[in-house]
Formats: sequence, C-alpha cells, structure tokens
Amino acid sequence: MANIVLGITGSIAAYKAADIVSQLTKAGHQVTCVLTKGAVEFVTPLTLATLSRRPVVTDLFAEKEGWQPGHIQLADDADLLLIAPATANVLAAMAHGFASDALTAIALATRAPVLIAPAMNGKMWQHPATLRNVETLQGWGVKFIDPAEGLLACGYEGVGRLAPVEEIVAAAQAALK
Ligand SMILES: Cc1cc2nc3c(=O)[nH]c(=O)nc-3n(C[C@H](O)[C@H](O)[C@H](O)COP(=O)(O)O)c2cc1C
Repeated sequence: MANIVLGITGSIAAYKAADIVSQLTKAGHQVTCVLTKGAVEFVTPLTLATLSRRPVVTDLFAEKEGWQPGHIQLADDADLLLIAPATANVLAAMAHGFASDALTAIALATRAPVLIAPAMNGKMWQHPATLRNVETLQGWGVKFIDPAEGLLACGYEGVGRLAPVEEIVAAAQAALK
C-alpha cells in the first residue's frame, strides 16, 4: 500500500477526481485528497472523504492538533503526489515556488515523485506562459500525463481535456513501482 496525496484543483474536470480516488483506494492505496479553494467549487470534500475513507484537506490553516504542521507531514509521508486535474493556475504557482495553499505548500515540501494531469481550455494550455511552466516543472523531474484532444467543456474543440481516468490511474501505479 502506498501513500498517495491527490491534489485536486479548480477545473471543471474536478468531478473526475472522485473516480480516480475510488480506483486508487480500491487498488489498496491510502489516498489523501488535498483540494484548492477552486476545487471545492466543483467537487465536495464529503464525496472525496467518503470515497477515500479519509479526512480531506481544504485549508492550510485548519491544523489545530499536533506539533508538526499537517501539510509537512503529508509531504514527508507521501510516496506520490498526483495532481489531477491540474489548472493553469496551479502549474504557474508550482513553477514559481509559491506555497499559498495546502496543495502548493505540499508540492514544495515533498520529495516524492510528482505526477500532474492538467486540464484546461486549449488556448490556456498552449499559451507560452503555460508551456514555459510545464517545461520548468519537467526540468525538475515532474512527470506529466498530457491532456487529450476533443470537445472541451468551454465549448471549444482542441487539446485540454483531462486524460482518461484509466490512463491517470495506470500512470500513478507505474510511478509507484
Ligand atoms: C466553470 C469554470 C471552469 C474552469 N475550468 C478550468 C479548467 O478546466 N482549467 C483551468 O486551468 N482553469 C479553469 N477554471 C479557472 C480556475 O478555476 C481559476 O484559474 C482558479 O483560480 C484556479 O484556482 P486553483 O488552481 O487554486 O484551483 C475554471 C473556472 C470556471 C469558473
């Protein structure tokens, strides 16, 4: 059994994270979901807590117990940090070392492998800022599950859909080996 921290961000694809949690939990892994404020707009912490059978982290400052900051403990204990879906915003934050919420703080503090499945409008994905952020993160060893092509929730056709859940789950399993 591996400790997986699953970061979920404010993408319309966030509802698919419920399926990712469910599959990884059924495969025997301990999955701790860490949601950005944006993610909470799209998927409820209750759904993710129920599927993962664990408390969900939504607030960096909600730590009232223990002496060690919970986000550092999660970062230290993680065997894998998987972020699915990842917004353009979180890629930018990570590429610049921001730690303004629980997820980006964990991303900065962990030394576990990091796997990212982005999802966004095709123009956001192809913007030079996003391309550079992806390149920066790849340079640090972060692995990507590239978004797929198809009809996007914003109404455009193009690249930007979250990769299929099965692909994300398989990549997570492979990253743990
Ligand atoms: C309906 C809706 C759908 C959105 N979908 C996406 C998306 O798929 N990808 C993305 O990068 N941003 C998307 N956004 C914008 C993000 O929610 C916004 O940039 C937010 O600041 C992201 O915060 P986070 O990265 O901390 O979750 C969407 C916003 C709305 C209102």
